[in-house]
Amino acid sequence: MAFHAFIHGRLDGLRRDNRLRSLPDIGERSGKYIYVDGEPLLNLSSNDYLGLGEDRFLRDSFRDTCRADGYAMTSSSSRLLTGNHRWYDELERELERLYSREAALVFNSGYHANVGILPALAGRGDLILSDRLNHASIIDGTSISGAAHLRYRHNDTSHIEELLAASQGRYRHIFIVTESVFSMDGDLADLRKLVELKNRYGAVLIVDEAHGVGVFGDHGLGLCESTGTVSSIDIIIGTFGKAFASTGAYAVMDAVLRDYLVNTMRSFIFTTALPPAVLAWSLMIIRKQTQMQSERVHLLRLSSMLRGRLADEGFEAPGQSHIVPVITGSNESAVSLAGTLRSAGVLGMAVRPPTVPENRARIRLSLRANLQWDDIGYIPDLVKAEKA
Ligand SMILES: Cc1ncc(COP(=O)(O)O)c(C=O)c1O
Repeated sequence: MAFHAFIHGRLDGLRRDNRLRSLPDIGERSGKYIYVDGEPLLNLSSNDYLGLGEDRFLRDSFRDTCRADGYAMTSSSSRLLTGNHRWYDELERELERLYSREAALVFNSGYHANVGILPALAGRGDLILSDRLNHASIIDGTSISGAAHLRYRHNDTSHIEELLAASQGRYRHIFIVTESVFSMDGDLADLRKLVELKNRYGAVLIVDEAHGVGVFGDHGLGLCESTGTVSSIDIIIGTFGKAFASTGAYAVMDAVLRDYLVNTMRSFIFTTALPPAVLAWSLMIIRKQTQMQSERVHLLRLSSMLRGRLADEGFEAPGQSHIVPVITGSNESAVSLAGTLRSAGVLGMAVRPPTVPENRARIRLSLRANLQWDDIGYIPDLVKAEKA
């Protein structure tokens, strides 16, 4: 059939370009290790940055609470119908208290948040300025919105300023959208400068803290907390699926924006709400992680040691966070380095275009607070041996 032949052709093209993906066989997770195709590997590929996802004590105590309270595993309905369980209220009020912001709203995932917030707030006549390396969910939300959009050079605030100045008076509203900690480069947005620009040009600033929450800030509220910008950003998005070891996402904002999103955000309205058990777990984690400042300090120290050692050996390992990319360039070199690491018992995933720009393929090492230097200190030598 012509259609199947077309799809086969597309898959062959991906295979030829070393871009064919397949679903790995992931088995049990045990502390720092994960079983892939039956083999235990040091897991440097998960986003469980605080190691809470593997905390058996936490899981067991939650299971006991669940048994006592009978938290349901489904909400069976959207939030605007019967899915708005009281745990939503508890979780959102806790987020508002922690961030000292008027309103919080919880979503099914970070993808739901990004694909829904921008189309709800922006449309024809508006302009979205988006970092060139923003996550696919932001790109998708931008294109669904129908607003004009421009991608600015990665983390280049002078480029943003140029675009803001050139766009004055031409649009109803201008939005600036950025990640705080960039998921594939591990570098940080200049949030203070972005706040200054948004104030000067009357723009709306939206910051996705998917990889910042849990890791940055004295209470794990993200880079906005560590930079003192929580109250100045219009919408701060956090996800529960990474350092917070759960599933779902949230945004904190002014109350009027929350009311508006509840009424207009399609990926919020037209989907089944999260199960009460997930909400209760997220609330427990959010509270627990506020007390994990020493783990955050350890994680960032470990990351900077690894980055330093890689740089000493002459490798490009940019960024300033717990995400340490080792840029190899070609797809083949990234796949080959992933193989070398794997032979040494380390799971570091090759990341290739279109997830990253052409010729910027890499191994993305994501570190966790429950690692020690002995777990990772030999990695620069492995990278060096691969290059030799
Ligand atoms: C920056 C960023 N935003 C949003 C998401 C999506 O979040 P979720 O996995 O909760 O859908 C991700 C990754 O998954 C991400 O890296």
